[in-house]
Amino acid sequence: MTKTYALLIVAGIMLSGCVSEDHPGYIWYPDMFTSKAWEPLDQAPFGKDSAMRFYPPEGVIPYGAQQVTEGYFVYTVPNTPEGYEQSKSIKNTLPKTEEVIAKGKQLYEIYCAPCHGTTGEGNGPVVEVGGFPPPPTYYQDRIYSLADGQMFHVITYGKNLMGSFRYQLTPEERWAVVHYIRHLQDQRLKKEGKSLADYQQTQQTDTLKTL
Ligand code: HEC
Repeated sequence: MTKTYALLIVAGIMLSGCVSEDHPGYIWYPDMFTSKAWEPLDQAPFGKDSAMRFYPPEGVIPYGAQQVTEGYFVYTVPNTPEGYEQSKSIKNTLPKTEEVIAKGKQLYEIYCAPCHGTTGEGNGPVVEVGGFPPPPTYYQDRIYSLADGQMFHVITYGKNLMGSFRYQLTPEERWAVVHYIRHLQDQRLKKEGKSLADYQQTQQTDTLKTL
């Protein structure tokens, strides 16, 4: 008997919310019915100014940006053949310290060595297993003459069979990897009594874009 009453009360409450043409129904949970959202330019009861806008908290770094002295570096060179050319002039502003080279080595061995090989000869395990064409060895004139910016460009966007690493590596990490590849090349060239400077003709200008 009590069960029947309880059921009737619940059914009564539920039905009282039903809408018909001449009765809008009772609203039992107004918070869920009437949204508390404000219009974009409403007067807001909080915030820096009275408009309904939110500002990022202090010190927030835009996604994918590298913090530099004057602000943030965001790579804006497009992923096109022209962009590849344009990237020649972008300078690696990350100081080449022992720590940076060590960081570059660590990242290189995780992300690049599977194809390029730990020494950069293009004989990583992915190639050795078979089925994947060997990437170019880093120890050839064409790669010696690549500008740092072009390497950064290729790491950012990928090239043909090589995929992009822009989501795995921050700009700073990409520059560290570039330093490490240069370090590998430098060591090899030194043994032959040469230097990278013999191959680098492009004047690299500082064209950092900052936010
Ligand atoms: C899946 C295998 C693979 C991985 C992983 C890979 N690469 Fe490559 N990479 C290639 C291939 C293949 C090419 C040749 C692309 C072409 O020119 O067609 C290449 C080319 C390059 C070049 C020469 C670009 C040019 O302009 O000719 C550089 C520099 C390079 N890779 C650096 C890296 C770095 C740094 C990483 C790690 C962050 C990496 N690669 C990871 C396969 C790979």
